[in-house]
Amino acid sequence: MKKIILTGDRPSGALHLGHYVGSLKNRVQMQNEFQTYIIIANLQAMTDYFDRPEQIRENINSLVKDYIACGIDPNVSTIFVQSKVKALPIMTMYFMNLVSLARVRRNPTVKEELERKEFKNNVNCGFVCYPISQAADILAFDADIVPVGKDQKPMIEQTNEIVDSFNFLYKDDVFKKCKAVFGQTAKLMGIDGKAKASKSLGNAISLSDTEEILKQKVFSMYTDPMHLKVQDPGRVEGNMVFHYLDAFYDEVKTRELREHYEKGGLGDMVLKKLLFDVLQEFLEPIRQKRKNVTQDDIDGILFQGNKRANEKADSVLERMERSMKFD
Ligand code: TRP
Repeated sequence: MKKIILTGDRPSGALHLGHYVGSLKNRVQMQNEFQTYIIIANLQAMTDYFDRPEQIRENINSLVKDYIACGIDPNVSTIFVQSKVKALPIMTMYFMNLVSLARVRRNPTVKEELERKEFKNNVNCGFVCYPISQAADILAFDADIVPVGKDQKPMIEQTNEIVDSFNFLYKDDVFKKCKAVFGQTAKLMGIDGKAKASKSLGNAISLSDTEEILKQKVFSMYTDPMHLKVQDPGRVEGNMVFHYLDAFYDEVKTRELREHYEKGGLGDMVLKKLLFDVLQEFLEPIRQKRKNVTQDDIDGILFQGNKRANEKADSVLERMERSMKFD
């Protein structure tokens, strides 16, 4: 039997090149080798955007388009919406009793988000408990492997602690532990060179950016501020044009350009024009595919995906409740 992968995203905005190199590319490569489930975590997004459900709804459509445009095959991978799988909140309720409040507050990702959001004493219960709901996302599908970004490591640890507690309390072997797999590629930086590419910081190139926006972003990329004249030697460390060429352009040619730039005689404009052409060539087919995905396609993909996801999650919930004598 094929091993099971569960992975997913919050529908909180357009996917960008950082998502592509960090996880989408992996998912496309792995989808034929493993049984893949991709969760669109709208319940999790609601812990932040509870006042803007219509925005989440729009983002769900856009996420499906990005997936398809990048090569996720909905006949091979199961793409589904979290709130459409009713076994998930039930499992979450059972798991909530196995995790102390102190433990969820200690979760480094939650802690960091709490500080960043300045929730103070107004933090909602949904927010602090989302790692438990994420454990349900993973365990409802018997996932062996969870490909995620490094920031999701605490969620996987929490999931495996729940596995231990549950099996110990009710019955051995109801759940198995899962393994996190982190993307091979180092984090893609934003065009400002200050932080990793992120939608909320506005420093990312989206998969859905038009040619015009792509051009603006590439030509405003952070390079070497001391490289004033073409003939001057330039610095490639921290230079975003080289960072992106490393991720998207031929390795040998990039090395030659790097040497030329460091020696002097290679201008930023020439490099930016090259990077623009490289990214334009990469993004144009994605844009075209994206444009061809209709609302009917999206509805059909999610209808099928939700159906397959419910079949699996219902069977796991049944197994779980049997072990608790609630069958
Ligand atoms: N927390 C993930 C994110 O912010 C999204 C997510 C929800 C997820 N449930 C998941 C990822 C289960 C992997 C497995 O991107």
